[in-house]
Amino acid sequence: MPKRIFSGVQPTGNIHLGNYLGALRNWVALQREYESFFCIVNLHAITIAQDPETLAEKTRELARIYLAVGIDPEVSTILVQSDLSEHAELTWLLNCITRMSELERMTQFKDKARKQQENVGVGLFDYPVLMASDILLYQTDLVPVGEDQKQHLELTRDIAIRFNRDYGETFRVPEAFIPQVGARIMSLADPTKKMSKSDEESEAGCVMLLDDADVVRRKFKRAVTDSGTEIRFDSTRPAINNLLTIYQLLTQKSPEEIEIHFAGKGYSQLKAELAEITIEFLQPFQERVSRIDDDKLDEILKAGAARAQLIAGATLAQAKHNMGLIGARS
Ligand code: AMP
Ligand code: TRP
Repeated sequence: MPKRIFSGVQPTGNIHLGNYLGALRNWVALQREYESFFCIVNLHAITIAQDPETLAEKTRELARIYLAVGIDPEVSTILVQSDLSEHAELTWLLNCITRMSELERMTQFKDKARKQQENVGVGLFDYPVLMASDILLYQTDLVPVGEDQKQHLELTRDIAIRFNRDYGETFRVPEAFIPQVGARIMSLADPTKKMSKSDEESEAGCVMLLDDADVVRRKFKRAVTDSGTEIRFDSTRPAINNLLTIYQLLTQKSPEEIEIHFAGKGYSQLKAELAEITIEFLQPFQERVSRIDDDKLDEILKAGAARAQLIAGATLAQAKHNMGLIGARS
């Protein structure tokens, strides 16, 4: 079997530079080396209440973003999670071998549950099992994600190993692919927190892929800085380190080159240059987003769902068979 990658992003809020540098960018880089599946995980999105109309719009917008960052639908499969009932169905099977205590340990659940207070849904608790199902359905080898998904990947591996042990070899055990640089882009407003689309208060610290040039300039201009004036990579100074990391990833220059370039210059120059480099990347990208027509998009998503179903359907059938779920139709 070919080596596979699978990854996904939730169609909620706005996609930001952290999503791009931590995840999407690596999908594009890996897609020709692996058989690739990129999912719009709308079933994950509804673990927090969503306005239906907005969710539907954001789902299509995210598909356009996938295409515009360079996912090639001729070589990769783009799918909408809710198009395939296999994802939800496998989740039930895996729920029955996952322990409450494992899910209670998930830091993302604890963080999100704190924000939801008394309205914590069962779906939010079960989120990691749905994610494991996404990955395991495709016999995935590698899952390119940002650092925040590491714990979910470890749980996915544990679930796969347990299922294989109890019911016979069924799932390939996947590995996380977390980039060396860019796995955790920090907020420009608070460099001790990750750049995040869900955090309303940190909107100013989050550069959206669909922000216009003036907004991008303003956000970089107001970026928090540390004490000290020297422009160099320094892990003890999170603000400068974050700005330089973004600079490094967008320009593909080496840290040495960048430090030489900024020798004797100040923060304001770094921020101004970074804003222009980001805009140079975003403008053609945004143009591509707006050029993708609706019919073409429908076609791509339909073809993606059909291709995905061949694999997901076969894996689910095998898992059911191995568990002894045999009835009149199987
Ligand atoms: P989400 O926005 O939670 O749907 O995340 C989509 C992808 O972007 C996942 O692979 C995350 O790990 C990644 N990601 C989200 N925020 C960041 C960040 N601040 N830095 C790097 N990667 C991120
Ligand atoms: N939980 C991931 C996130 O918030 C999104 C996701 C859902 C995912 N299913 C996945 C990522 C499968 C990789 C593989 O970022």
